[in-house]
Amino acid sequence: MPLLAQRLAIISFVVTGLFVTAPAQTAGGPQPLLALESVSGSEPLRDGIQIQAGPAVMRITALRNDIVRVRVSPNSVLPEDASWAVLPEARTKSIDIQTSQDASSVGFRTSALDVRVEREPLRIVIRDLEGNVISADAVGRPTKFQAGGFSVFKQMPGAEHYFGLGDKTGQFDRREQAYTLWNTDIGPQESVDPLYKAIPFFLAINGTRSYGIFLDNTWRTWFDFGKQARDAYAFGAEGGPLDYYFIYGPTPKQVVEAYAYLTGKPPLPPLWALGFQQSRYSYTPESKVREIATRLRNDRIPSDVIYLDIDYQDRNRPFTVDAKTFPNFPGLVADLRKQHFHLVNITDLHIAHAPNQGYMPYDTGHAGDHFVKKADGSEFVGIVWPGPAVFPDFTRAQTREWWGGLYQGFVKDGVAGFWNDMNEPSVFDGPAKTMPLDNVHRIEEPGFATRTAMHSEIHNIVGLENARATYEGLLKLRPDERPFVLTRATYAGGQRYGFTWTGDNFATWNHLRLATQMVLNLGLSGISFVGADVGGFNGTPSSDLLTRWVELAAFSPFYRDHSNKDTLPHELWVNGPEQETIRRRYVETRYRLLPYIYSLADESSRSGLPMMRPIFLEYPEIFAPSPPSFEHWDTEFLLGRSLMIAPQPFGETVDDYVVSFPPGSWFDFWTGERVASSPSAPSSGDIASAKPGTKFPEPRKVHPKLDTMPVYVRGGSVLPMQPLIQNTEETPRGPLELRVYPGADCRGMIYLDDGHTLAYQHGQYLRQNLSCDADAKAVRLKFHARDGSYAPWWKFVEVVVYDWPSAHAEAKVSGSTYPLKTTYDPKQHALHVTLSDQSGEAELSIRGKTAP
Ligand code: NOJ
Repeated sequence: MPLLAQRLAIISFVVTGLFVTAPAQTAGGPQPLLALESVSGSEPLRDGIQIQAGPAVMRITALRNDIVRVRVSPNSVLPEDASWAVLPEARTKSIDIQTSQDASSVGFRTSALDVRVEREPLRIVIRDLEGNVISADAVGRPTKFQAGGFSVFKQMPGAEHYFGLGDKTGQFDRREQAYTLWNTDIGPQESVDPLYKAIPFFLAINGTRSYGIFLDNTWRTWFDFGKQARDAYAFGAEGGPLDYYFIYGPTPKQVVEAYAYLTGKPPLPPLWALGFQQSRYSYTPESKVREIATRLRNDRIPSDVIYLDIDYQDRNRPFTVDAKTFPNFPGLVADLRKQHFHLVNITDLHIAHAPNQGYMPYDTGHAGDHFVKKADGSEFVGIVWPGPAVFPDFTRAQTREWWGGLYQGFVKDGVAGFWNDMNEPSVFDGPAKTMPLDNVHRIEEPGFATRTAMHSEIHNIVGLENARATYEGLLKLRPDERPFVLTRATYAGGQRYGFTWTGDNFATWNHLRLATQMVLNLGLSGISFVGADVGGFNGTPSSDLLTRWVELAAFSPFYRDHSNKDTLPHELWVNGPEQETIRRRYVETRYRLLPYIYSLADESSRSGLPMMRPIFLEYPEIFAPSPPSFEHWDTEFLLGRSLMIAPQPFGETVDDYVVSFPPGSWFDFWTGERVASSPSAPSSGDIASAKPGTKFPEPRKVHPKLDTMPVYVRGGSVLPMQPLIQNTEETPRGPLELRVYPGADCRGMIYLDDGHTLAYQHGQYLRQNLSCDADAKAVRLKFHARDGSYAPWWKFVEVVVYDWPSAHAEAKVSGSTYPLKTTYDPKQHALHVTLSDQSGEAELSIRGKTAP
């Protein structure tokens, strides 16, 4: 039912007392409207409280001091305690709480939160321990159940901002927008909703305080940040459980980390997956693939991956190869490997409905009863690329295992990674381009009660479980290799199974701009390894647009150039040598930065923090005061804590624009020049510094130049870089470069391992923290003790200290009395010192010397 109609129905019930019956497609059958108006009883629990509200029951429990779970049922039975998103080890955690109760409320306290349920009218109000309200149910808008679904309204303070919810288009901030979460195969035109992913988690930031809400419900859900009401936001679902997690910060970083604690962290990807990737729909025949590979190498465009889109298959049948166009598939894979390319094959979930034709995936799938059924119990057949197709029932553990086994042949051929597309699932002739909602899935899964479920419940997790089946299957087939899986559709927790991208974008300037907000919001939704098709999938980019896209995406986690059929090719060389030279320089920069980028991937896999970050993730003080005191906070972004990228907000214009800087000092990455400095102490990224009145550096006017993407380095960084390589299998020749940009809280990290196996999980890695401090006359760079047993490729380290005034310097490393040789680059104001690799604790000290 459309939202407005739903609201009218609710209002009419409240006024007239009529019962409304559920439409056929919702869970649980007919259900009268129920509004949770007042507390009729309560019972303290060791870890929370249980509330009775007429026939309804509400259980609020604390998993940690900063995570509270709210489960509500319209009747006395709470829904099954199981989840596709939340890790069992997190879901079953609990802490002891302190109950509290007075005449007007009942509730409890943790060491961070005061959780109360006001009795009349019933409202959940969550405060910090200083009494500040963090989140509260909206006054006069009780939680309601109706027609199998529910709605929850919360107060929406005037200065609160919202982020997350996965891959939504439109503006960066979700405030004043409304969204539906229902995985849908449709290109991300500017105002299209829903799209491919359903991640019902959002982050709310209000001045110095942030929290998140994760609604763990796989049905069609909706979120409305102020469309229905100006002072309340709302969320709900068409069916399924009302089960949500409130996550307190107070910093946005803490919220994102706690969300990853609940739903999982991304596994460390193979290093090659962070290299440049070339794709097109489709490279065929085989000679075309070879031509692309050879051109990339001949043109010296560093690259690691080539994709095969659907046309390599026999009649678009997944897990086949067209023998006419790819007569020697294993030979092709082997030759590409010799050129150090990794091949990624598309393997869509729709298995051709081809009985009695010797098509193994259908025959074995049918024999194993692995396909989704229609309501009448017969196999569901829908039209997709192969024509009539059937769909694996991924909520069965056995089916996932069968699916994983289908990769055996390609794995044997040496195909490195796999692409799970169309898994919303897209069904060309189905209602709303997917399956009928009453199709029947089976949940046969450890941790869940065995039962059947309608497609309306399972739809949003088909992509998640498809990617999981692929990921787990690959781990079985190649137990010591990190799987690479790229999926289009997913649900909360999808980060556990690898990469995703933003789907079928367009070759327009606005889509280049959208790419930033979409990748940032996906990152805040737990998905770190993500990117947008470089150049735009649909349409042919102008040469400048493609160049700008190649430049920008060099700083995004997933770097893939991809394009649609019937568009002109848009590999990097297509617009002539001048453009190609600029583009190559950015791909080269990406490869030079890989030590930094890989250390961010390692950080993501351990913390759940995204590699590509909105400014406020490191500098929450931009929200104090609100609105953000930052002009382009929706287009500028950070890669890790040290790099800030400031693309033109409107790439199609030639106008000058203003770059704002977060507190602290900032250096131009290209020239080494110090370009901005705060008048007062810079941020340490924690909430203590998020005070109103924090001083920001002067913004800077930039004149856009096609060959320059403005990139800045945070003063207070040690940025590791490496000599240029052409692919990630090449060993860099020369020293590891450590660029020191003096400033407060100066630090950096190096992470290294073999790049593709799981040996890093058994200690075979190298992780080393670096820190530095500086005053007017000296800089000290500290090498902390190294973790792990992996031996680095470098024998020497070249330290480059920026903002150094003159050639006069004396450099020594601890434990040695000999001065090290220094050289000076006056253009970059940078002092260079080369020393041998420092695997243990050591300090390099450099001091100024008076000129002789
Ligand atoms: C849709 C995907 O989004 C696109 O990237 C792909 O090229 C086509 N399907 C064909 O497989």
